[in-house]
Amino acid sequence: QRLELELDSIEKGGYEHFMLKEIFEQPRSILDSMRGRLELGGSHLNMAGFRAYEQKFVNAQRIIIVACGTSWHAGLVAEYLIEDLARIPVEVEYASEFRYRNPVISERDIVIAISQSGETADTLAALELAKSKGATIFGICNVVGSSIARATDAGAYTHAGPEIGVASTKAFTAQVTVLTLLAMCIGQRRGTITDVKLRELVTELHNIPTKVEKALKLDAEIQQIAETFKDVPNFLYLGRGYNFPVALEGALKLKEISYIHAEGYPAAEMKHGPIALIDENMPVVVIATKDSSYEKVVSNIQEVKARKGRIIAVVTEGDTTIPAMAEFVIEVPPTSEVLVPLVSVIPLQLLSYHIAVLRGCNVDQPRNLAKSVTVE
Ligand code: AGP
Repeated sequence: QRLELELDSIEKGGYEHFMLKEIFEQPRSILDSMRGRLELGGSHLNMAGFRAYEQKFVNAQRIIIVACGTSWHAGLVAEYLIEDLARIPVEVEYASEFRYRNPVISERDIVIAISQSGETADTLAALELAKSKGATIFGICNVVGSSIARATDAGAYTHAGPEIGVASTKAFTAQVTVLTLLAMCIGQRRGTITDVKLRELVTELHNIPTKVEKALKLDAEIQQIAETFKDVPNFLYLGRGYNFPVALEGALKLKEISYIHAEGYPAAEMKHGPIALIDENMPVVVIATKDSSYEKVVSNIQEVKARKGRIIAVVTEGDTTIPAMAEFVIEVPPTSEVLVPLVSVIPLQLLSYHIAVLRGCNVDQPRNLAKSVTVE
């Protein structure tokens, strides 16, 4: 039995859970997902799967992204990225809805299927449907040789390494990294992104692993915050722009491993309903990094504060405005607006992890969930 325990601890690399190990692996896994695909200081991008279909991407009238769960959240980030950098309209679809909706698909559409496991039944069925209508299918998978990877015309692996924890962490940041590279490739070929901007992004992508490393140093601080909120029944997560999908992802992470009810919203949607939930007992996580919607998020924080909501804010280092308004502040390093999800999601992963551990939950294998959902 001692041997078994020792083997278990070796597999977890000395961490208490796979999820924590995988959260801490992210500086490395993000680097692995970019390795060989871009050169420091230059603007040459190298994605083999893209190259073979670059003309299709250049002429695409629309990109449809199909995925489920966390991979769907990565798809939402990609919607912002591709529309911003490559100027192609993007639709992000729950694979399970798309497959039964009789969707309008043409041969000039590209469908991107995102899946960590590559075995999700709904995502596989959605891409098969799109394929039968003549669309080109591009896959973003983590598991090499998986069913989805095999069913696509081309694709790019995320190379995050095996993800054992049911709650997806490093697969999400690897997906976002690869989707960023893909958006940059398309933008470069379509001429919608300048060489200067491209070089800037390449340089900043190289800085991301160090910034994630820095965000991981917040672990002890976040554990303290988790202590304060471990017994609450509800949480709200708010974000705008690139941080809106991050809010959704933070809420999903919390509910799946701690069983606390949590909802993510675009911060400005609050006034259309969820604001009614806010009182002195409601923790509200606001992702409020310095970006183009910063001022607007500050007003959203004021709205929450006026109703006595308990604000936990994820801000950019050096912010002096929000700390005066929030009960807890988590400072992450600054980065380019389009890359911010890679950094801002880290504290949310840690927060859900610590809350779940403090509640005595089985974080690696939460109840009712499977790592790959091969049934519909
Ligand atoms: C993530 O934490 C979840 N366990 C779940 O939402 C997951 O992302 C979803 O089932 C999709 O899985 P896939 O990426 O393997 O297709």
